[in-house]
Amino acid sequence: MKPTVAPFPAARLRRTRQSPAIRALVRQSSLSVDDLIWPIFVRAGEDMEEPVPSMPGVVRRTVDRAAIAATEAAALGIPAICIFPYTAQDDRTEDCAEAWSPDNLSNRAIRAIKAAAPDIAVMTDVALDPYNINGHDGFVVDGEIINDETVEALVRMTLAQAEAGADIIGPSDMMDGRIGAMRAALEAQGHRNVMILSYAAKYASAFYGPFRDAVGASGALTGDKKTYQMDPGNSDEALRLVQRDLSEGADMVMVKPGMPYLDICRRVKDSFGAPTFAYQVSGEYAMIRAAALNGWIDGEKAMLESLLAFKRAGCDGILSYFAPEAARLLNG
Ligand code: PBG
Repeated sequence: MKPTVAPFPAARLRRTRQSPAIRALVRQSSLSVDDLIWPIFVRAGEDMEEPVPSMPGVVRRTVDRAAIAATEAAALGIPAICIFPYTAQDDRTEDCAEAWSPDNLSNRAIRAIKAAAPDIAVMTDVALDPYNINGHDGFVVDGEIINDETVEALVRMTLAQAEAGADIIGPSDMMDGRIGAMRAALEAQGHRNVMILSYAAKYASAFYGPFRDAVGASGALTGDKKTYQMDPGNSDEALRLVQRDLSEGADMVMVKPGMPYLDICRRVKDSFGAPTFAYQVSGEYAMIRAAALNGWIDGEKAMLESLLAFKRAGCDGILSYFAPEAARLLNG
């Protein structure tokens, strides 16, 4: 579609910007509480929370507090919550066995949240990094992140999460073939309605730094994740990954990080028309928060603008640490 350009003054494009009512009338994209998924960090212990220093305003909560937070999120109208565990040092091993333990932190949090707030959808994280002695998302043998053995472990992890009551499985590991393997196992075990939101186009990004602090993986990580996460210079490859994951049974797909990758969101949405999400990751959160705390930007406005931009780029929803704050503002 080629826009027709009328000559001035027939085309005074400022006419449709003249008042709040007219701007509302012609606005193409909007942000609503329905668009938000809230990632939270859980830790061991009871009835306490502790701040994550590199993410001001974000805390790690004990399971009981996570259930309360989920109840509050549900009351705000937030449709989904996503759990990330801060695993105790002793539970990080080379064989990552804690990852599929039915009683690990994440699975206990799923059960507690489903009991306290049955209507909020619970999303999980599937990757070995919170349980791995070396901080990688897969098993490491002779310096290599081995794909197929990792996929078997991810399937075990997926089934344990489904058994605990997860609604949406979120594989963030970037191994090949995991979606098909997970889908087949879920079907075989009767978890027909458990959904998979694939981190399909996940880039090897410097913006994950504060998250790795939050889950206690920063010090642990040996090397980088470039042999499995995507190269930031690539765009076509994101489409191949999304196509592959959808064909293997992903119900929804994600682009991650968010703000520096809005072009990828747009291409993915236009190419496949599948439910498409972006993850506004920890580093993006930290940047906006830090600038706001310094008085350099208006934090609330910058946050809402950044979230709206995801909608304009074609996303159906956004994972954001700002979710409760944004929901409060949107609910007025
Ligand atoms: C790891 C995982 C990461 C994030 C979510 N899952 C970090 C990584 O890949 O190292 C990052 C989220 C964020 O930065 O907010 N499986």
